[in-house]
Amino acid sequence: MTTLEDLVNPGILSLTPYEPGKPIDELAREQGFTPDQICKLASNENPLGPSPLALQALQEALPHIHLYPDGAGRLLREAIARHHDLSVENVVLGNGSNEIIEFLFHVFVLPRTHEAICSRHAFAVYRLMAQLFDARCRETPDPEFRHDLTAMRKSIGPNTRLIFLTSPNNPTGTRIPNRELEEFVRAAPAHAIVALDEAYIDFLDDPPPSVSWVREGKNVVLLRTFSKMQGLAGLRIGYALAPAPIASLLQRARQPFNTNSLAQAAAVAALKDHEHREKTRQIVRAGRIRLEESFARQGLAFVPSSANFVMVRVGDGDALFHSLLRHGWIIRPLRSYGLAEWVRISIGTPEQVTRFLEIFPTALRETAAAPDSTGR
Ligand SMILES: Cc1ncc(COP(=O)(O)O)c(C=O)c1O
Repeated sequence: MTTLEDLVNPGILSLTPYEPGKPIDELAREQGFTPDQICKLASNENPLGPSPLALQALQEALPHIHLYPDGAGRLLREAIARHHDLSVENVVLGNGSNEIIEFLFHVFVLPRTHEAICSRHAFAVYRLMAQLFDARCRETPDPEFRHDLTAMRKSIGPNTRLIFLTSPNNPTGTRIPNRELEEFVRAAPAHAIVALDEAYIDFLDDPPPSVSWVREGKNVVLLRTFSKMQGLAGLRIGYALAPAPIASLLQRARQPFNTNSLAQAAAVAALKDHEHREKTRQIVRAGRIRLEESFARQGLAFVPSSANFVMVRVGDGDALFHSLLRHGWIIRPLRSYGLAEWVRISIGTPEQVTRFLEIFPTALRETAAAPDSTGR
């Protein structure tokens, strides 16, 4: 007899779905808090909220939501192209940059034939997408939680089609030095696309000149998002920057109206919001220093971060996560990344960081396992 499992794509059967940060409303329901008693430092969102210019644009766009969005996203793509001094043909919009990752697999990966490569503790969605496409994703070791580009280069084979480099990386917070990155992109073989995930690039003081590699026509796709610095995670809007021939292939994988009109309008406005960007940068930089200094004082191992979150070794990450939940705080345990002793904490507002640093030692004491600072 045919069972349901016989009908299912094998990639789906083996897939463990992505585990997002716990939503505030869910914790409020479970623990009897009101939503405003809860603080979420779990998904690397912008502690200041959305760009005010984006909020204003949303108000103006709301009366028009009975109309389909501009399917080509022309205005936003033009604004992004101007922002990066590229052409509109270099820009592809996605329902979050996660959707661009899916486009990459659609375009370049044949099930059971082609492979992707990523670093051991890189962002989880590359592996999930490979599974969904029933394709292999090779993981290379990450000494000190850093991409090992030599190991990545060595693991490229004839069937490699996608090489994911994540800088800064989530959840580790580490970055790839600019020179190493450039050497890698320049030496990459013609049969593999370098997908450089730059979701957190705006938090770098000295970002790599990656847009120039797009201009030069290298086999590179840059992944960018409005979810982090611009604070538009709930609208789901991201984009790829790629040489025009690659971008036009990615466009073919898109559904006709993959990004909505509110997201498009808000993103155009957010690109102009230099004030919000600068404030966010300052708050994140200051909060990160405070968290890292406090972890150091408490003798906890942490990974120095280049992004808007810090990964710290606490002994039993799940226990600390549950202990903090009882106090109304949501952070991110990292068991699903094979890092059961670690948690990831997003940088909050200055007040949130102060309150977090007050509750953190209490919550840590409440967990059964004693933390240590001996590294991995
Ligand atoms: C490294 C990295 N890439 C991509 C994404 C996806 O971002 P979005 O789909 O919200 O644009 C995230 C989100 O956390 C991320 O950390």
